Amino acid sequence: MDGPAGRLLLAVCWAAAEAKVLPPPSNLDYSFIQICTLNWTWSPPENVSHSCGLEYSSDIVIDEVPQDKREWSKSRFRVTETFLNEEMRFRVRSECKYDNASEPSQWVETSLRPKGIPGTAAVDLSCIWHNLEYMACTWRPGEKASSDTNYTLFYWFNGLKNHKKCNNYSMHQEIFGCAFNFSFPKVTSTYPAIRILIKDDSEEIRPLCASKNPTTLVKPATPRQVTLSKSNDEIYVEWSESDTFPENCLFYEVVYHNGDKDTAQKIKVESNYTSIPSVDPNSKYIFKVRAKPKPECYSSKLYSDWSEEKSIGEKVDSTFYFVLIIIIPLTVALSTIILLVYLKRLKILILPPIPDPREILKRMFGEQNEDSQSCAKDDSVNAYDRLVKEEEIHSLVITETPECANAEKQNR
Ligand SMILES: *[C@@H]1O[C@H](CO)[C@@H](O)[C@H](O)[C@H]1NC(C)=O
Ligand SMILES: *[C@@H]1O[C@H](CO)[C@@H](O)[C@H](O)[C@H]1NC(C)=O
Ligand SMILES: *[C@@H]1O[C@H](CO)[C@@H](O)[C@H](O)[C@H]1NC(C)=O
Ligand SMILES: *[C@@H]1O[C@H](CO)[C@@H](O)[C@H](O)[C@H]1NC(C)=O
Ligand SMILES: *[C@@H]1O[C@H](CO)[C@@H](O)[C@H](O)[C@H]1NC(C)=O
Ligand SMILES: *[C@@H]1O[C@H](CO)[C@@H](O)[C@H](O)[C@H]1NC(C)=O
Repeated sequence: MDGPAGRLLLAVCWAAAEAKVLPPPSNLDYSFIQICTLNWTWSPPENVSHSCGLEYSSDIVIDEVPQDKREWSKSRFRVTETFLNEEMRFRVRSECKYDNASEPSQWVETSLRPKGIPGTAAVDLSCIWHNLEYMACTWRPGEKASSDTNYTLFYWFNGLKNHKKCNNYSMHQEIFGCAFNFSFPKVTSTYPAIRILIKDDSEEIRPLCASKNPTTLVKPATPRQVTLSKSNDEIYVEWSESDTFPENCLFYEVVYHNGDKDTAQKIKVESNYTSIPSVDPNSKYIFKVRAKPKPECYSSKLYSDWSEEKSIGEKVDSTFYFVLIIIIPLTVALSTIILLVYLKRLKILILPPIPDPREILKRMFGEQNEDSQSCAKDDSVNAYDRLVKEEEIHSLVITETPECANAEKQNR
């Protein structure tokens, strides 16, 4: 404000201020009307003429930082969200809309200080709206909070009479999670902001509030039932559509690669099917699909997870040939051996060996000494042999008592 012009402006302002400064509003106060939602109220200033066109200008300062959320209104209240884990100051003043001769009043301020110990509030809160069906939020405990802190999640949005408590908790590697149903009729095109409060029953744990725009959190379900079929040189791909999304609100990304090549092809599709022309008939093709919300419907940038991979076509590769070369001769050789052994057995069955009488006589007279020797060994294999021999002897010479039986008894 240098030079004559600046000085003149200053003089005008000064004159105006001297002339008339509006009285400020009074009784500024606040109350919670929902979780994380405040109604700031005040009383009108006194002695303001009707011709002034009185309005209230209000603003929010969080941790000393003005939020640039200035608003003008005629009503004597303003509803705002709050974060609870930071100091929030609310200020309001009176202004005359028509009477530019009068100066705005001074600011009237009140503040909402955070409760609990700093560093105990939940951190890294993030939420994902799965398939327009349920909201799943995760957070970590504050670094000053004990590990057994029982954070509880509450939520509310415009249209819900009272806030609700989330009950489906999970805990995974220091990361807390909770999921709750969150769905609207399919025809809905605008969704209310959702307020989330995470707190503990203990006064020491600082609460945390967050307001989320659900359309930024949409994550579609993974496409299922991916089916592939082939006709001529064309592969046809189809998958199931999510039935919770309004029509034409999703597009799909189909990624496929030829088993031979590393480079994958990516195509964008608006329907639940597509076809790939002129494919290599001797190649194997691998496909996967994922869905993404259309920007016309949702401002979310989240893709669904990839579908499971499906493949079509068979590639006859070199290892297969190698296996063939090894396996075929091996099989032939093995079956030949088995056949030979089998044939020999067959021969034994059909033509049993004729007992040789000379052998029997030789055993009767010549092998008795040998017998007692072998009995002394008391070997189980020998015992069996003996048994067979004894039988032969008994049947032929009944009067003969074999020494073997005695020898066995002695050995026991
Ligand atoms: C805020 O409080 C004022 C005064 O009690 C009331 O008239 C107004 O309806 C409240 N606003 C909401 C949105 O509840
Ligand atoms: C408002 O005006 C009345 C009379 O017109 C006066 O008595 C009163 O003091 C004034 N109040 C203020 C705050 O100026
Ligand atoms: C108030 O503003 C209007 C136009 O916006 C102007 O015509 C008028 O002269 C101004 N009055 C004063 C006292 O500055
Ligand atoms: C959390 O809850 C469990 C079981 O209800 C209890 O044992 C534990 O002491 C609680 N933790 C705190 C910090 O109160
Ligand atoms: C809890 O949430 C998981 C997903 O995070 C869901 O699969 C499960 O069905 C839910 N259980 C209940 C009782 O809602
Ligand atoms: C693809 O969409 C059509 C029409 O919406 C439907 O009839 C068909 O069943 C869907 N395909 C699969 C695999 O679900």
